[in-house]
Amino acid sequence: MGMELPRLSLLFLILVFGFDWGFFSGVYSYSRPPPRKTIFVEHESGDADSATSPQQVHISQVGQDKMRISWITDTPTPAKVVYGPSPGSNGFSASGTTSSYHYTMYESGEIHEVVIGPLNPNTVYYYRLGDPPSAREYTLKTPPSQFPIKFAVIGDLGQTEWTTSTLQHIAKSNYDMLLLPGDLSYADFIQTLWDSFGRLVEPLASQRPWMVTQGNHEIEKIPIIHKTPFTAYNARWRMPYEESGSDSNLYYSFDLAGVHLIMLGSYTDFDPNSAQYKWLQGDLGKVDRERTPWTVVILHAPWYNSNTAHQGEPESYAMKAAMEDLLYRSQVDVVFAGHVHAYERFTRVSGDKADNCGPVHITIGDGGNREGLASKYIDPKPEISIFREASFGHGQFEVVNATHALWTWHRNDDDEAVAGDSVWLRSLSSDPACKL
Ligand SMILES: *[C@@H]1O[C@H](CO)[C@@H](O)[C@H](O)[C@H]1NC(C)=O
Ligand SMILES: [Fe+2]
Repeated sequence: MGMELPRLSLLFLILVFGFDWGFFSGVYSYSRPPPRKTIFVEHESGDADSATSPQQVHISQVGQDKMRISWITDTPTPAKVVYGPSPGSNGFSASGTTSSYHYTMYESGEIHEVVIGPLNPNTVYYYRLGDPPSAREYTLKTPPSQFPIKFAVIGDLGQTEWTTSTLQHIAKSNYDMLLLPGDLSYADFIQTLWDSFGRLVEPLASQRPWMVTQGNHEIEKIPIIHKTPFTAYNARWRMPYEESGSDSNLYYSFDLAGVHLIMLGSYTDFDPNSAQYKWLQGDLGKVDRERTPWTVVILHAPWYNSNTAHQGEPESYAMKAAMEDLLYRSQVDVVFAGHVHAYERFTRVSGDKADNCGPVHITIGDGGNREGLASKYIDPKPEISIFREASFGHGQFEVVNATHALWTWHRNDDDEAVAGDSVWLRSLSSDPACKL
């Protein structure tokens, strides 16, 4: 696998600059500050047999009390997890499936997925992977089943020294679950960079559930050569879509500790006749506000954006035109987006106007990818935009109880405890002025 990078890099550099920006992103009309270089994380193993030793371990929530463990090995080995509530424990075990994929000349490793549980909430588990179980033991902590719960939120992560800085901050935040609104690895056709990204995030993603949705950098379609979109993303970052009645890994929902979370797909069909729209309509219709007083939507291309970057893209304005009313009528509290490499928080809005019963829109695309920041804003600032700044950072969404949540944004240039922006939100379901 490590051989591929030098061999293909020239071909793909041509494709990257020829297709990626032109095909998916339009022509940028602003200049970004110098980005930092991409880090390539090699496979290093503590195990004697590194070909079957686990790498790129990440976990994701499945239903209320289960966890999907995903990892990759160079050569085949059984998809089996042994786990338990104390170090060295092997009281429980579960088996799953193994898959792989091809992408031009690249052949992926063995991608293993095992769902474990039922697990107790807010509990540390110890787990080992494969059969015989890996020498290395991993730990995870399940999220709480009731308030309070803390989400870390970060988009457009990539794998640079800025990414490392963001991850160091997030690691100190004591979060329960990470939400990623798209653009994960910035592999951009070079598949070994997906492997590198998996290794880079493993220390965090093997310990807390990482729930992701896709961005434009996940598409990785090449005309004629590779026509299927999202090949690597779907193979490596499988999310619990069947459990929410979705037929696509590109959109899904789940309930956790009183929050209904909806992951939407900006780069699949979203018009009112589309499968995604119909699924969303049905999903919102089933929300039980007694059980989940908060509803949060996560997507990639922001519907509200006063940065000069990524204006006029259909994934933003057409998706908003198709779905905004649906979200409004369902009392969605917050919409998190990425794509624009900066931070921006809007007031509660609907139809481009301030509206106390509409969602707060937040762009948090400043994770640290190799393209750098989007630092030019439209002037004057629209009144509905409350706070905007092009700095690398991450967000924390702490839902304290059924009525109150604290949103904070943290710059990488500050200590983790410092909030660059913060606001208390009240759930729309508890606001008598916004009765359904
Ligand atoms: C919810 O949390 C807020 C903020 O901490 C607090 O003011 C409020 O009293 C809490 N509500 C209940 C019902 O505990
Ligand atoms: Fe993007």
